[in-house]
Amino acid sequence: MSTTIARNPLDAGAPFGPDAGARLGDDQLAEIRRLLAAASREQRLWLAGYLAGLDQAAGLPASAPVATAAAPAQKAKLTILYATESGNAEALAATARKTAQRLGFQAKVLDMADATPAGLADLGTVLVIASTWGEGDPPQRAEAFHAALMAADAPRLAGLRYAVLALGDRAYARFCETGKQFDARLEALGATRLAPVVECDLDYKKPAAAWIDSTLRLLDDKPADPGAAVIAFPRPAAIEDEAAEPLPVAAEVSERTNLNSSRSDLETWHVALSFAEGAPAYEPGDAIGFVPTNQPALVDEVLRTAGLAGDDALHAALSRDFDITLLTRPQVAAYAALTGDATLGRIAADEGLLGDFLRDRQFVDLLAAAPHTLTADQLTGLLRPQPARLYSVASSRKAVGDEAHLLVAKVGWESHGRARTGVASGQVADRLATGDALAVTLKPNPHFRLPADPATPVIMIGPGTGVAPFRGFLQEREAIGATGRNWLFFGARRFTHDFLYQLDWQEWRAAGLLTRIDLAFSRDQPEKIYVQQRMWEARRELWAWLQDGAVLYVCGDAKAMARDVHAALLAIIADQSGASPEQAAETLRTLQRAGRYKRDVY
Ligand SMILES: Cc1cc2nc3c(=O)[nH]c(=O)nc-3n(C[C@H](O)[C@H](O)[C@H](O)COP(=O)(O)OP(=O)(O)OC[C@H]3O[C@@H](n4cnc5c(N)ncnc54)[C@H](O)[C@@H]3O)c2cc1C
Ligand SMILES: Cc1cc2nc3c(=O)[nH]c(=O)nc-3n(C[C@H](O)[C@H](O)[C@H](O)COP(=O)(O)O)c2cc1C
Repeated sequence: MSTTIARNPLDAGAPFGPDAGARLGDDQLAEIRRLLAAASREQRLWLAGYLAGLDQAAGLPASAPVATAAAPAQKAKLTILYATESGNAEALAATARKTAQRLGFQAKVLDMADATPAGLADLGTVLVIASTWGEGDPPQRAEAFHAALMAADAPRLAGLRYAVLALGDRAYARFCETGKQFDARLEALGATRLAPVVECDLDYKKPAAAWIDSTLRLLDDKPADPGAAVIAFPRPAAIEDEAAEPLPVAAEVSERTNLNSSRSDLETWHVALSFAEGAPAYEPGDAIGFVPTNQPALVDEVLRTAGLAGDDALHAALSRDFDITLLTRPQVAAYAALTGDATLGRIAADEGLLGDFLRDRQFVDLLAAAPHTLTADQLTGLLRPQPARLYSVASSRKAVGDEAHLLVAKVGWESHGRARTGVASGQVADRLATGDALAVTLKPNPHFRLPADPATPVIMIGPGTGVAPFRGFLQEREAIGATGRNWLFFGARRFTHDFLYQLDWQEWRAAGLLTRIDLAFSRDQPEKIYVQQRMWEARRELWAWLQDGAVLYVCGDAKAMARDVHAALLAIIADQSGASPEQAAETLRTLQRAGRYKRDVY
């Protein structure tokens, strides 16, 4: 055997350049040929991929012949169309594209913001991944596409094949509504459904990975023998790993202050988190999330009602891992079946009764309606994992270094004779102390960032906790010496009790960084005044700022505020430009498409 022979390429770390085959010995080549002669095409492809993987593991770039050999035959053209608000669907679309490309599909990703229904006609196969927002609404940037697809004059899509993955949250009455609407509408327009729509709750990673896997298998028009298929497809768990979010990082609560006065009926907590290992690389506009722990008294009550008091391990699990407050339709049905309770059975079977029962009730009310001794598995089997809650970052790293500030409003209400407290905001208000550790995750929000050009004027509309990101914006603009003008609309109940971050705004106003601030305190006079009214009063200047290229941001309450502000903007555009309502709507859509009307509402 020649001494110049390359080391065995199956030995990790061996060089495997373009001419390696020429440098193999005759007996080695004969051995390889014998192996390959018996191998199926898919096994040969797998081997090529395996060798590329060894290179990769050894930190070597994929060598040319391996890359060529590893590329499977080109399969169908595939478009992964996503509609997202906070990035989950977008990240899944990227994972689906990578997986599809590895399998030989000509896959590309398309943001619904850049798509039209007419453009779908020629795409062949479309995988739709869509989240639902507001109260069963499409994500903002998908609104135009959604409206056009639902319109009476939407194009026929007879040549299209599709499958839909719907993201949502069972806490909302119209669960996965947008995905379900896309699914039904595409079929009505003549497209061919490849598989039933898959609806995902907040713990969507596993079902989404399984959907990517099963949909691509369906599309794989050259299925090999079963063994080869197993080799060619990544396991759903591998797809899930790919879609995994960054791991939580350790933070310490370094400050915690209620910004409302002691005479306010509200509690809004400024929370400063510090990071010994360096703050996550957030930008103003991003959010930070954490998985909260449940109120100990509520955990006790759930366990007692389920006949499981005294189970310490279960107490710890319920405190930390499970959502024990939300009550959903499937839970009522499952508990009725489990207990055989006739009344609950009737409620579960009747949408009207069920809607009434769910209103303002929580999981503990379901248990209390028909107390029954459960096993630990039966109880946890009824519960979903505790989802993280998100909070806008209220700081800029350029101003606060390795800290991140949050502004958290305590949620509380009373119903069916019980006082209820929001899980995460209740933890911040009642159970968190300075010095406590908190594991947090950064949730980037690339669609809600300051303009790239620091000279661009910005208009910020942020009543209540909606003001949080704008504190981050101004810290950032101050730190970088941005010359763009800044205008804030803020609203709350009372000037003396509820003016969040009042000193910051006053100092920035005095320093000239904050060009203008308009305030709406709803309860300081007999009639209610909200930010949209202040906008209307300032409509001439607001229109002039927009004419000067200002970017307009809205943050905070989605249910009432964001809709009212939207309506006010339409009225202002119509009034100032003489446009018809339709033209005003088009102007606002154009601003939105140009990234000059941005909303982060919840
Ligand atoms: C991108 C983003 C950014 C956010 N930023 C902020 C922020 O900066 N500051 C902030 O405070 N929050 C913010 N939120 C909201 C935050 O994530 C939580 O939803 C909020 O704090 C409530 O969480 P919780 O765990 O305290 O309440 P939960 O235990 O989740 O309870 C809230 C639920 O209780 C029910 N509920 C609430 N009030 C009532 C009522 N009066 N009657 C009947 N039912 C009711 C509703 O179903 C509601 O969904 C943001 C959300 C998103 C998505
Ligand atoms: C303010 C807000 C409103 C929401 N509204 C709904 C809803 O009406 N129905 C639903 O099923 N999910 C709803 N969701 C849940 C989202 O669809 C879910 O978080 C999804 O994973 C987000 O995906 P995205 O990041 O791609 O937008 C809502 C979430 C938020 C924060």
